[in-house]
Amino acid sequence: MDTLLVPPEALQPAARRPGPLWLLAEVTYRCPLHCAFCYNPVDFAAAGPELSTDDWLSVIRQARTMGAAQFGISGGEPLLRDDIEILVAEARRLGFYTNLITSGVGLTEARLAALKEAGLDHIQLSFQDATREANDLITNTRTFDLKRKVAALTKAAGYPTVINCVLHRSNIDHLDRIIEMAAEIGAEYLELANTQYHGWAFLNREALMPSAAQLAEAEAVTERWRQKLGKKMRILFVTPDYQSKKPKKCMNGWGEVFLSVTPDGLALPCHTARMLPGLDFPDVREHALDWIWHDSPLFNRFRGTAWLPDTCQSCEDKDKDHGGCRCQAFMLTGNAGATDPVCPKSPDHALIEATLASAERQDNCHPLVFRDPKASKALGRAF
Ligand code: FES
Repeated sequence: MDTLLVPPEALQPAARRPGPLWLLAEVTYRCPLHCAFCYNPVDFAAAGPELSTDDWLSVIRQARTMGAAQFGISGGEPLLRDDIEILVAEARRLGFYTNLITSGVGLTEARLAALKEAGLDHIQLSFQDATREANDLITNTRTFDLKRKVAALTKAAGYPTVINCVLHRSNIDHLDRIIEMAAEIGAEYLELANTQYHGWAFLNREALMPSAAQLAEAEAVTERWRQKLGKKMRILFVTPDYQSKKPKKCMNGWGEVFLSVTPDGLALPCHTARMLPGLDFPDVREHALDWIWHDSPLFNRFRGTAWLPDTCQSCEDKDKDHGGCRCQAFMLTGNAGATDPVCPKSPDHALIEATLASAERQDNCHPLVFRDPKASKALGRAF
């Protein structure tokens, strides 16, 4: 009789990395707004058909089985789909914390009641500026009054008021008024997110980037309001990558905690990776999420630090920043595997310096390209 050296019950499977913590469902690229700073891909009009409700339910269930705890729904404008309540209800039933990221367009009283009934935990509402004229100009819509109304509705429904405002050269000087508006609305949280230059924002980079003086003043204004409001309103100020001294560990590391699914079913390690060339993006209708996360070439391509280029391998910060953002490296250098040029040690750092120098010349006037399907089709053909 054969003797087993190790009894079967003692055989442990090899340790596996944890699953994603955060699942982001970008349920649609359709959007009633036309923001020039949108991070969605410029060729979004070429994307395939949207996932069905059942496809999304399957993704949600698989992610929860893998240990994901936070479920975000964004777009485009997610409320353009009529099945958000179904997705939220299932995610809540499974124990997810659920978060809707919306422009507010479509958030009627009835819809809000249905989402509340489904168990939605959190709503993040975007504003683009503090006045009707400026808000409506950058979005190329008339939505300012509607957003004020939606903010009141969500508050009345018992949700904490969480406002997001993307900052750029044309609105950053209005920051005092933007924070005042958030305080008048009674916001508990205000996220001041400086534009990060991806997608449409990259296309409009020259027109959107503030000068160093504008940015410094914005930080000072934010600090004054923090002192004034204390705990009444928490204000987050997200610094732009280009104007940071060091690169960041984008998405907390490629394939470490975050998994995003595009409207047409591609699983991505960050919001914008689908533009990276030479990569095979797994479709959630063809592959199990577990395989995508653990074994797909895409999620392993820039995971950890073993793949880092020489510049980063010898750097003492490599475990902190993982060489920065892959999408940014690609957009600036054409090589997704390069050190993020934001890093002063990058051989391509001059590209960032040149862009910052151009932002100092406030007289350069680049016309904004607004996000819309027609422009997207034309741009898609151009790439
Ligand atoms: Fe894609 Fe940073 S946005 S890695």
